[in-house]
Amino acid sequence: MGRTKEHHAPSVALVGAGVRGLGYARRAAAQGARIVAVAEPRTQARADFATEFGLAPDQAFADAADLLAAARVADAVVIASPDPCHADQAVLAARQGYAILLEKPMALTEEDCARVITAVEQAGVVFAVGHVLRYTPYTRLLKGLLDAGRIGTIVSVEHLEPVGWWHQAHSYVRGNWRREDQSGPMLLTKSCHDIDWLMHVMGESPARVASFGSLSHFTAANKPATATDTCVTCPIEQSCAFSAKRSYLQCLGDPVREYWPLSMVTSDRTEAGVLEALRESPYGRCVYSCDNDAVDHQVVALEFPSGSTASFTMTAFTELTHRKTRIFGTLGCLEGDGEAVRVHDFVTDRSEEHRVPSLHGASAADGHGGGDDALVNAFLDAVASGDQSHLSSDARTSLASHRVVWAAESARRTGTVATLPHDLDVPPS
Ligand SMILES: NC(=O)c1ccc[n+]([C@@H]2O[C@H](COP(=O)([O-])OP(=O)(O)OC[C@H]3O[C@@H](n4cnc5c(N)ncnc54)[C@H](O)[C@@H]3O)[C@@H](O)[C@H]2O)c1
Repeated sequence: MGRTKEHHAPSVALVGAGVRGLGYARRAAAQGARIVAVAEPRTQARADFATEFGLAPDQAFADAADLLAAARVADAVVIASPDPCHADQAVLAARQGYAILLEKPMALTEEDCARVITAVEQAGVVFAVGHVLRYTPYTRLLKGLLDAGRIGTIVSVEHLEPVGWWHQAHSYVRGNWRREDQSGPMLLTKSCHDIDWLMHVMGESPARVASFGSLSHFTAANKPATATDTCVTCPIEQSCAFSAKRSYLQCLGDPVREYWPLSMVTSDRTEAGVLEALRESPYGRCVYSCDNDAVDHQVVALEFPSGSTASFTMTAFTELTHRKTRIFGTLGCLEGDGEAVRVHDFVTDRSEEHRVPSLHGASAADGHGGGDDALVNAFLDAVASGDQSHLSSDARTSLASHRVVWAAESARRTGTVATLPHDLDVPPS
């Protein structure tokens, strides 16, 4: 989907030139935006980014504060730094008057979300959290059918997030989101997309939530007796489903998988280079010998004020593929798999299939089913026109869905049902 062309091309600064940030910058540039500055602490990544986008030395910063605390140098900033940086950087950027595309999660605590909202609203800047699922052609198709009343009133929903076995091992056992104390719980760092998506599709916020789930498999107790701590030296690596050696060597030669996940492990594109990186980096560790605590399966039950209910399942033990959803309404039911939506009409007793017009893969490297492109386009349109309504959600909407995440996490830990307040006011910050 192309951008609306009537406005001037915005200029964009980037904070965090990693997998997401580089992807956003390339997408924005492809849509005519000018990339005018970067803040990235890794020297090589910063230099590579500056070269790719033709930035002068004084446009490339090692410290994000040096970019964000100085006078504004662009219309917009994309913040794609690690989760714990989001709140402070977004507050600084809002105060300088930048329009902000902030990667999810918006912040790691409710208090920090409130600080971001206050800064964004006081500055009156365009703001979006990277809830890419809202923007996919698939979601637009599915929501369009619901809004058109094709299945009547929604009564219940069943939604599955198939994380993918090697993706779980990469990001949530060996990688950056493996520990709650370094990022957040899985429901926030991964499935905040799904909770946000369910609320978007249902058109309401849940009133009560409950949740169960745990880290069941990627633990020392499940380590085979003969396994070693690193895949490259492990005698049973070849028969292990979670072999880092297999997982990352298979990326070589595939530009999509070389970009992600391989670029998080090494920039070397040779077999010897990948094996060397696996000897040294956390990504070569045995999945049963890591310092991880992220859950590998979780369910959330949600009850909405209308009385409708939804169940959400996140599990590691799948292929990495699109989310699967079944929605049951008073006049029909539908089933969506990211590629098509099948509607069964109770009056005619007939099914019809609606194919998504343009198909994309489900992973981050594939651009999240077309969501990355569409989010960037919507954001650039909002920046160019100063009109937030190009975006599917604002800062308060993101806080509302993050609140559901925190309530569900609290319910999971305490074995209780959490009730969410009707009043979604932002606490003072
Ligand atoms: N929307 C989505 O679907 C989605 C998918 C994956 C990741 N994410 C989120 O995007 C963000 C980035 O994830 P990623 O996968 O690109 O990780 P990454 O590690 O590839 O990129 C993060 C980059 O930020 C840099 N960085 C570290 N500290 C910084 C600081 N203080 N200031 C500026 N930059 C700093 C790192 O050096 C790195 O280059 C995370 O918050 C993550 O949760 C969102």
